[in-house]
Amino acid sequence: MIGKLNHVAIVVPDLAAASKVYRDTLGGDVSEPHTLPEHGVTTVFVNLPNTKIELLHPYGDGSPIAKFLENNPSGGMHHVCYEVDDILAARDKLQSEGARVLGDGNPKIGAHGKPVLFLHPKDFCGTLVELEQV
Ligand code: CO
Repeated sequence: MIGKLNHVAIVVPDLAAASKVYRDTLGGDVSEPHTLPEHGVTTVFVNLPNTKIELLHPYGDGSPIAKFLENNPSGGMHHVCYEVDDILAARDKLQSEGARVLGDGNPKIGAHGKPVLFLHPKDFCGTLVELEQV
């Protein structure tokens, strides 16, 4: 069911510092920051040959990643995103296996303009999993 690794998301306390590390120290192809007010985040993409790293920083009040940063003040890995062909079929299969889908269980339009769902970390080896329909 799961396909390519679309991205790994890392929450960071300072986007400029994190961009510098990925651009200058690691020599990565790093984008400019993009703010997504409806998602409560500012993102920087690091384009790797086979996938992406998304550096995330909270934006505005009530950002969904504010608490994560509070608990992990130096930042840390937040989620992995796997591609699926059919997100509703994937959801139905996962729910039939007893996995918990976060929120109301319906896909939302994610940061890349495509339908996404998040899966409960306790059901997936302690890691928050995002599924994105491509
Ligand atoms: Co993501």
